[in-house]
Amino acid sequence: MDASNILVTGASGTVGREVAKRLAGQAAPARLARRDPSRVVEGAEALERVRFDFHDPSGFAEALRGVDRVFLLRPPQLADIRRDFEPFLLAMLQADVKRVVFLSVRGAERNPLLPHRRIEKALERSGLAWTHLRPNDWMQNFATVHRDDIRTRGEIWAPAGKGRTSFVDARDVAEAAAAVLTGEGHERRAYALTGGEALDLDEAAAVLSDVLGRRVAYRNPGVVAFLRHLRAAGRPLALGLVMTGVYTVARLGLAAGVSPELERLIGRPATSLRSFAEDHAAVWR
Ligand SMILES: NC(=O)c1ccc[n+]([C@@H]2O[C@H](COP(=O)([O-])OP(=O)(O)OC[C@H]3O[C@@H](n4cnc5c(N)ncnc54)[C@H](OP(=O)(O)O)[C@@H]3O)[C@@H](O)[C@H]2O)c1
Repeated sequence: MDASNILVTGASGTVGREVAKRLAGQAAPARLARRDPSRVVEGAEALERVRFDFHDPSGFAEALRGVDRVFLLRPPQLADIRRDFEPFLLAMLQADVKRVVFLSVRGAERNPLLPHRRIEKALERSGLAWTHLRPNDWMQNFATVHRDDIRTRGEIWAPAGKGRTSFVDARDVAEAAAAVLTGEGHERRAYALTGGEALDLDEAAAVLSDVLGRRVAYRNPGVVAFLRHLRAAGRPLALGLVMTGVYTVARLGLAAGVSPELERLIGRPATSLRSFAEDHAAVWR
C-alpha cells in the first residue's frame, strides 16, 4: 500500500479514535480526518492528520490525496444526506477511492428513514465499493451518557422496560473496522456487529454493581419522565429524543439479536459487559 492510503473520518470519536489506534499499532498507512488537525488523537500520534469537515468541500481533495480506502462515519448531528454527505461521496468517486467502510447502525436495513440507511443507499448507488458495519448500541454509553447517573445516584435511567440489547464494545467495532479496511473480500457486504449476549438493563445494572462493589439500580421511567430527567441534568432535548428512540427499539425487543459476524471479523469472542466495566471502572468512581 502507498503511504496514507486509508482515510479515517470521525477520528476523534468513540469508534474512530479506536480505529486510528489500531491502524497506528499495525503501522498501517493511514491519515486522520479532523475538523481541527492540530489536535492529536491519543494513541495514534504517529499518523498524519488532515483538515476535514463534511461541510467544507474545499478540503476534500487534499484529505483524499493518495487515499484508496475510507472509514466513513456519520457524525450524530448531521442528517441532511444530500447536503452533508453527497458532496463527499462524489469527491471519493473522483479520487478513485477503492473501498468505503461505513459505520452504520443496527437494523438500518429495516428503516429506510434512518439517515444511516439513506447514506447506505447513496453508497450503493454511487458505484463505490462499500462495506456497511451495522453495530448495536455501544457499551461506552454507560460510561458517557449514563455516567453521571451511575456515579452520583447509582442509577441507570432509560425507557427500555425489560427489553434486551446485545450491547457491543466500540473497541471491538473498531477492531472489526480495521480488519475490513486492511483485509480483502468485504465488498458489498453488510455486517451486523453485536456483543455476544443480550442483557436487559436490570442485568446490566447487576453487572455494574458487581464490578463497582456498590449498588447500581435500573430506573425504568416513562418517556416523559425520562426526558424531564435529562432536561434537569442540562442535557439537550435532541439527545433525549435520540435516546428515547434507541431505548424504544430495545423495549420492543428489536435490539436483542446476537450476530456471529463481529467474532468472525476479529477472530475472538466479543468483549463482555463485565470485562468492559472492569476496564472502565474508574469512570464511575
Ligand atoms: N452511540 C451508539 O451507541 C451507536 C451505536 C451504533 C451506531 N452509532 C452511530 O455511530 C456514529 C457515531 O460514531 P461515534 O460514536 O464513534 O462518534 P462520536 O463519538 O459522536 O464522534 C463524532 C465524530 O465526528 C466528527 N465530526 C463532527 N462533526 C463533523 C463534521 N462536520 N465534519 C467532519 N467530522 C465531524 C468529530 O470529529 P472532530 O470534532 O475531531 O472533527 C468526531 O470525531 C453515528 O452515526 C451513530 O448513529 C452509534
